[in-house]
Amino acid sequence: MSGRLAGKRIAILGAGQTRGDTEGNGRAMARIFSREGADLLLIDRDESAAQATADICTGPNAVMVADVAEEGAADRIAEAAKARWGGLDGLVYNIGIGDGGDGPAGRVEDEAWDRIMLVNLTAARRVMGACIPLLRDSGHGAIVAISSLASIAPSPMISYSVSKAGMNRLVQSVAFHEAAHQVRCNAITPGLIDTPMAIEGHSKASGIDKEALRKGRDRAVPMGHMGRAEDVAFAALYLMSDEAKFVTGVILPVDGGSSVKVAI
Ligand SMILES: NC(=O)c1ccc[n+]([C@@H]2O[C@H](COP(=O)([O-])OP(=O)(O)OC[C@H]3O[C@@H](n4cnc5c(N)ncnc54)[C@H](O)[C@@H]3O)[C@@H](O)[C@H]2O)c1
Repeated sequence: MSGRLAGKRIAILGAGQTRGDTEGNGRAMARIFSREGADLLLIDRDESAAQATADICTGPNAVMVADVAEEGAADRIAEAAKARWGGLDGLVYNIGIGDGGDGPAGRVEDEAWDRIMLVNLTAARRVMGACIPLLRDSGHGAIVAISSLASIAPSPMISYSVSKAGMNRLVQSVAFHEAAHQVRCNAITPGLIDTPMAIEGHSKASGIDKEALRKGRDRAVPMGHMGRAEDVAFAALYLMSDEAKFVTGVILPVDGGSSVKVAI
């Protein structure tokens, strides 16, 4: 099937990606949404990464540079959607960081905790808040937030994990409060996905060879291999499309069985 998002005006936050061998989740969503007929606003703090995403999109799109950690960014994003289209049908919050200074409860640095909460959760709430009036006006608005398996499973990165758990609750709260306005809000919890952030990013931080990292992550997944960014993107495509018009408040695992793994 094609044209599953025909004519939909969708803003993707975190539309760039970390540089590396594979595709990131935001780029995969942009590529697939574009192929399905969406008109995209590709937002990222990294202009060249967002532009590289724009270059592989086959439909109408524009790049916007914004750092969601900055004051006023959420309003600027809503204004940009209004200026481009006069409205908005879909919003994807794909931004997520889990960088240096995070760790188990006893070792996490306050500065890292604050930065991760701001970017992963507070900014998501602000952007959703700023865009909800536009999504209400569309009559069939949809939000897809990219959470993580770490929101429901033990993780050595407590700030990341708690921020994503907060994201799940944020999504369910927005789903409840916006249902009467025909705005849907769903989350995806990706498990181990073979993206540059997960491989090149961790390899750089830990000094572990990329192939060794890949093998270890493959072994950890019940299906025997990591997922690819497009696995996340196809789930997002469904949730964003009108096929999911009665689906809201869902936390959807895309994880090869990781969330149902019970170690005995
Ligand atoms: N890769 C995995 O295994 C995995 C697993 C679970 C969840 N996720 C989630 O999927 C999402 C994307 O992951 P990815 O691996 O493709 O990561 P990525 O780092 O390649 O992509 C994230 C994008 O967000 C942008 N960004 C970061 N901070 C920003 C800010 N303050 N303002 C604007 N843009 C900002 C980055 O520039 C980057 O282009 C994240 O939310 C991540 O937590 C990934």
